[in-house]
Amino acid sequence: MELPSSLKPCLLWLLVFCLLNVSTIISQPLKQEAVLFGGKFQALYVIGDSLVDSGNNNNLTTKIKSNFAPYGSDFEGGKPTGRFSNGKTIADYIAIYYGLPLAPAYMGLSEEQKNNISTGMNYASASCGVFPDTGKGLGHCLSLSAQVDLFKETIDKNLKKRFKTQSELSKHLAESLFMTAIGINDYVFFFNKTTDPNEFANKLLHDYLIQIRRLQRLGARKFFINNLKPLGCYPNVVATTVPRGSCNDGLNLAISIFNTKLRKDLAHLKEKLSNTSFLYSDYFKFMLGLRGPSSNQASSNLIDSTSPCCPSVYDGALLTSCTPTSVACKVPDSHIFFDPFHPTQLANFMYAIGCFQERKFCQVV
Ligand SMILES: *[C@@H]1O[C@H](CO)[C@@H](O)[C@H](O)[C@H]1NC(C)=O
Ligand SMILES: *[C@@H]1O[C@H](CO)[C@@H](O)[C@H](O)[C@H]1NC(C)=O
Ligand SMILES: *[C@@H]1O[C@H](CO)[C@@H](O)[C@H](O)[C@H]1NC(C)=O
Ligand SMILES: *[C@@H]1O[C@H](CO)[C@@H](O)[C@H](O)[C@H]1NC(C)=O
Repeated sequence: MELPSSLKPCLLWLLVFCLLNVSTIISQPLKQEAVLFGGKFQALYVIGDSLVDSGNNNNLTTKIKSNFAPYGSDFEGGKPTGRFSNGKTIADYIAIYYGLPLAPAYMGLSEEQKNNISTGMNYASASCGVFPDTGKGLGHCLSLSAQVDLFKETIDKNLKKRFKTQSELSKHLAESLFMTAIGINDYVFFFNKTTDPNEFANKLLHDYLIQIRRLQRLGARKFFINNLKPLGCYPNVVATTVPRGSCNDGLNLAISIFNTKLRKDLAHLKEKLSNTSFLYSDYFKFMLGLRGPSSNQASSNLIDSTSPCCPSVYDGALLTSCTPTSVACKVPDSHIFFDPFHPTQLANFMYAIGCFQERKFCQVV
């Protein structure tokens, strides 16, 4: 796995981690780990929200953008791309792990480029969600069904030019990885209108799975499904809890109800659909783990796991992203959160280690 620059704090952290675990590591037999989920993918298609948006919102009429500094300060060339982080996203690390190029934002591609790309594209759109109205009050964004519509358009208009026979096209789609990371914005915008977390999770999951089935009917066979983050412990939420700084456990519980149902339903779906498999990514568990064993304690003195890098002085204003005038901290990768709602590249890199190397958070269903 390629090691991004400016991950010194991470390396330090890993070093500490490794020293603590050295006895367990050296007592394990050496084994050549197979690539998780088979690998050898032709392409990575990404469906999701701001966690994995690689720049689609740049080309949409919306206030929810990140195509300005301080975003992207640690990205290749230190330039903002429309990613909601200082560097790479988890979708980028998935591409790197499988030896694929980072999936470019669909909305930023010319027709000529779309015809020429067969290693995957990214349809993810910040502020949107599974429900059609989620995030729409803030401007235009691509809901889950709109993203799947665009993927269908990619097949009909672009991939069919490149894969001339149906069997070539089917093979390409069957050998591609489909990542989905969406649904948390539905909680942000609509969960406060509900009184029943079970009912809310069922409704959300119902609509989510309709689109997974659509992708499957279009030819997708391998899915990387990222569950929903523990929003109740994110800076924009803990800024308003009592006592200030504590996690909103009710919100986390509601989200974990969704996650549990999601995992169960994917197992059912796998039984029903031949030749289709799912990798379930427990992002909830990963992010909660970064907060440390006690929910109010940092996991390491070297890393700030509670306050965002940007703005560097966070007063708890209802912000979910930084503005062009925000002042960011000096070393983003000494934080887990880049802004009040999104992780740093450090957190995204640590996720990749936990998922692919330690195999702690990613399991084939
Ligand atoms: C997307 O927006 C960028 C500027 O942010 C512009 O340069 C590019 O031409 C746009 N792409 C499309 C396909 O509209
Ligand atoms: C098509 O893709 C290849 C490599 O994938 C690249 O070298 C070439 O510049 C692309 N052409 C256009 C017109 O985008
Ligand atoms: C629910 O939260 C959203 C987003 O913060 C807000 O716009 C809306 O007014 C809230 N609705 C209720 C009923 O509190
Ligand atoms: C499953 O995949 C195998 C090998 O690719 C193929 O021979 C078989 O027809 C597929 N089964 C179904 C039901 O699509």
